[in-house]
Amino acid sequence: MEKLIIQGGTSLKGSLEISGSKNSSLPILAGMLLCEGKTTVANLPHLQDVTTSLELLGSLGVELSIDENRYVEADTRTVHSLATPPELVGKMRASILVLGPMLSRFGEATVSFPGGCAIGNRPIDLHIAGMESLGAEIIIEDGFIKASRKGRLRGATIILPFPSVGATENIIMAATLAEGTTRIKNCALEPEIIDLIKCLNAWGANISGAGTSSIVVQGVKKMDGGFFRVMSDRIETATYLAAAAATGGKIRTMRADPSNISAVLEKFRKTGGDLTFGVDWIELDMRGKRPKAVNITTGPYPCFPTDMQAQFTVVNSLAIGIAQVTETIFENRLAQVQELRCMGAKIALNNNVAVITGVPKLTGTHVMASDLRASAALVIAGVAAEGETTIDEIHHVDRGYECFEEKLHQLGAKITRLPS
Ligand code: UD1
Repeated sequence: MEKLIIQGGTSLKGSLEISGSKNSSLPILAGMLLCEGKTTVANLPHLQDVTTSLELLGSLGVELSIDENRYVEADTRTVHSLATPPELVGKMRASILVLGPMLSRFGEATVSFPGGCAIGNRPIDLHIAGMESLGAEIIIEDGFIKASRKGRLRGATIILPFPSVGATENIIMAATLAEGTTRIKNCALEPEIIDLIKCLNAWGANISGAGTSSIVVQGVKKMDGGFFRVMSDRIETATYLAAAAATGGKIRTMRADPSNISAVLEKFRKTGGDLTFGVDWIELDMRGKRPKAVNITTGPYPCFPTDMQAQFTVVNSLAIGIAQVTETIFENRLAQVQELRCMGAKIALNNNVAVITGVPKLTGTHVMASDLRASAALVIAGVAAEGETTIDEIHHVDRGYECFEEKLHQLGAKITRLPS
């Protein structure tokens, strides 16, 4: 497994371009299965999870082509399989997002239980219950979900007990080709869901209520497809701003929409840095100073995103003062704490609450990446720390950050990737 070696003690400075959103790309790629005509998607990030999604579509028989601008075109007329290979599904939890589109368009789908980051028990009961509400028959057998329908799926009112991002997306996609109207209540509000709805509507769906807790899908008989450009990645944006906050640096993120990360920007402002932004850029200037400690509690959008919790734990580890970080979305998402302690962070952990007493410096050592966002957090810690940090199992970071090392180099970081 590859590792990263970081020579730390660098205050990051400069500007960089933010890539397309991972969490928007994955449902949109699954949504290609709904369209009879060709679909083209632009601004897909070059990431392991996107590659896995494309392999998954290819394994079903979707004909894919990628041009020099990295526009991905899909033609689903060649689909010959309605069973996904478990080895691909096992790589990524978002693989479950093909369930709704396959079932709705082709009448059946066999998908194994998905894998992904080891951040706790991540059930898919809400996805399955949603499909059943739309009239699907679901059999769970030998680790596989076998879904089928007789006739078209039928519109229904579905009240989600929790605003799950993936379940909202899967149900929306299943409902696009259902007969009649589907109302999804208490749905997730994440900007990536708005992006998915814009995309599906551009391709022929009839969905309203994007960005509200009540989405209405008026089923259509078919979707023709077309073109869509994926939004920029708000978690990537905020990760680089966290790198500025932790290293006393000054970073400007370009092609980054500040309106999607208001809760995070509010916290960056509280660290004491100068935060400025325009329509599609954000700058954080720490003026060489340590951040002030800031309490964080994660929650569904528009609250503070769980995907930024690990990175902010690093900011707080180097802050002036004491902060409490509370994780409410996933049950096992503070894996970075143990590694940060090895680097000299003072963190007391009580279940999903970390109490962090900021220290003036971290010290480089040998640590292990455990999941996507925890890996990004360790990289930020390594760049800020004195001395050399080695991060094992760095492949996790490739699932979610396009050209991570190159972009950090551009900002002055000293990072090398080594095969182990
Ligand atoms: C998505 C994001 C992920 C982010 C998460 C929360 C993608 C590809 N991934 O993941 O980066 O961290 O939202 O913002 O967009 N749950 C159930 N039953 C279900 C579904 C979910 O109990 O059927 C629980 C999960 O275990 C978890 C919580 O709901 O505790 C949130 O999960 P969900 O919103 O579904 O996250 P994902 O869509 O997996």
